[in-house]
Amino acid sequence: MTVRLLQFTDPHLYGAADGKLRGVITYPALLAAIEHARGRFWPCDGILATGDLVQDDPSGYARFREVFAKLGVPVYCITGNHDEPDAMARVLAGAPFQLGGVARWQKWIAVMLDTYLAGKAQGRLDAANLRLLDEALRNNPGAHALVCLHHHPVPMQSRWLDQVGLENAAEFFSVLDGHRNVRAALWGHVHQHFESERNGVRLMSTPSTCAQFLPRSDGFAIDRRPPGYRWLELQDDGTIHTDVVWVDGHAPQHG
Ligand SMILES: [Fe+2]
Repeated sequence: MTVRLLQFTDPHLYGAADGKLRGVITYPALLAAIEHARGRFWPCDGILATGDLVQDDPSGYARFREVFAKLGVPVYCITGNHDEPDAMARVLAGAPFQLGGVARWQKWIAVMLDTYLAGKAQGRLDAANLRLLDEALRNNPGAHALVCLHHHPVPMQSRWLDQVGLENAAEFFSVLDGHRNVRAALWGHVHQHFESERNGVRLMSTPSTCAQFLPRSDGFAIDRRPPGYRWLELQDDGTIHTDVVWVDGHAPQHG
């Protein structure tokens, strides 16, 4: 059985339909990314929404709910630095949404970690999340694991972004290093495509469904690429087929 997932990250929604982030109206950009994916990678077994679901605006969760509730698949969500965890938990309570925790299929699990730090752009895994990760990996030794978080656990070679990554990446990797079933770690936050590998674990980031950041830039800079998302196919033998897709037909409305 192949598990097919779609990752939509950093939609930065507002309550208002015309709210802009870095010149891109975030709501139609997200709709364009979803429609693009539905035309190519559907049906899927679940959606990974890896943080910054809203842009510091709790009324954006109603919009997120309206968009994703009707797709008919589970939506696994984690917080990002622009989220408001209490409002997120309230508005996205119940199926098809799952906030944090573990998603399970026959041969795979996805561990959804919360790295939110109140008032900070950087992230941190608290003791509860480190324990969740360790126990999920230990309790499912026969399953391959995909670990999802918002903040990047490795440098992106971008000075400004690397000041707002995962503060305790060493603790994160020490948990991963204690298990043999981790196949990949996947994140958002950086609004760009990145792929690397560490100790046999694939490391991947995915562009935002709205505005992108210029890779390898020392200072903050926008990359004028269109919305993006990622598809993943998880095979029984632990292989991951995956790629990032750019929604080329969507002209970002930069202003
Ligand atoms: Fe973001």
